[in-house]
Amino acid sequence: MQKLNLKDKNLYYIGGIVRDELLGLPEKQADIDVTYVGSAIEFCKNLGIGEIVQINDAFGTVRMKINDEYVDFASTRKEIYDKKGHLPTVTEIGCSLKEDVLRRDFTVNALAKSLYDDEIVDYTGGIQDLKDKKLRILHDGSFIDDPTRIIRGLKFSVRFGFELEEKTKILQEKYLENVNRDMCYKRLKQELEDAFNLNRQEVLDKFVEQKIYKLISDKNYANTEINTENLIKKYEVETPWLVYLGNFDLENFDLTSREQKIISDYKMLTEYSGEDMFELYKKFRQVSKESVLLYAIYVDYDFAVNYLEKLSEIKLEITGDDLITLGYKPNENFSKCFDFILREKFKNHKLTKDDELKIAKNFFNKL
Ligand code: CTP
Repeated sequence: MQKLNLKDKNLYYIGGIVRDELLGLPEKQADIDVTYVGSAIEFCKNLGIGEIVQINDAFGTVRMKINDEYVDFASTRKEIYDKKGHLPTVTEIGCSLKEDVLRRDFTVNALAKSLYDDEIVDYTGGIQDLKDKKLRILHDGSFIDDPTRIIRGLKFSVRFGFELEEKTKILQEKYLENVNRDMCYKRLKQELEDAFNLNRQEVLDKFVEQKIYKLISDKNYANTEINTENLIKKYEVETPWLVYLGNFDLENFDLTSREQKIISDYKMLTEYSGEDMFELYKKFRQVSKESVLLYAIYVDYDFAVNYLEKLSEIKLEITGDDLITLGYKPNENFSKCFDFILREKFKNHKLTKDDELKIAKNFFNKL
């Protein structure tokens, strides 16, 4: 574990960093999470090393930069979810470590490790659950308080090969039968991104099998045999999660303009009902790979893959300068001519520059 050279009886590593060390996983480059029994803000202000980057008074958290590493200090705190599905309200800062861990998601994430003497503090049976590979929530209302924990459970189960503990599974099923849609979609989106950006088919399989999609829509999931994980491995994309979820109803999410374009382009492709495949090909040329992959998964695998493998490579050799050299004056016929040549090239990719020049001459002769 990345060691912070801070000895204080009130300081504990908390959450993922402790879990991952006990699992024997390699250290992540991620930020270090530390909890302080008391006020982390006061503690950090008096620390005398590093620099404070950000303070959040409401949550009693401080982000510090110490020896070129970011460390997130959190005060021990109690919370209540007065509005279920939304950010909780802090009711006490500086509570006991035990009270702090009890507000967390799963027992395996509720482990603490003392910076003072390296002792592991396990109030909820997290060590046993790590051994048994189980994800167990800490109280019956956990998913009602924070439904994003269902996606977190999905993510952790695939990352670590864990299963939901029996009662947790039942409580998840019960919640999914009656989802409260008034929730913080920003947090839900972040968790969905994290889970699906793992690019593991298993995430989608579980999402569907366990009906987790009900968190975002009642609409039944359109089944597909296509393996999305393999497609994304082959045709790398910037936004893998959207290739998995682009066919779902995402209207409650605050999508970025790029994400919105991926979805609207995919819809635009699906709405094309003409017979002329060249026209469809031209539409493909304007969209990102994510939209093409969605089309491959849900509409026409062969055409989309043929596009990615071959058709996307088609490029015209001639330019406007070549047409001018042939003696033609630049006007709107130039773009018509390029379109005409592209159509020929769509039928026969092997056309050379000379072939293209001949086709251009024919085109202008026929005008
Ligand atoms: N946590 C929680 N409920 C949430 C989000 C987070 O209880 N909805 C708690 C968990 O104790 C978690 C810690 O906050 O361990 C830190 O959260 P996060 O950084 O999202 O996850 P990690 O567990 O650190 O896992 P990783 O970063 O490896 O995904």
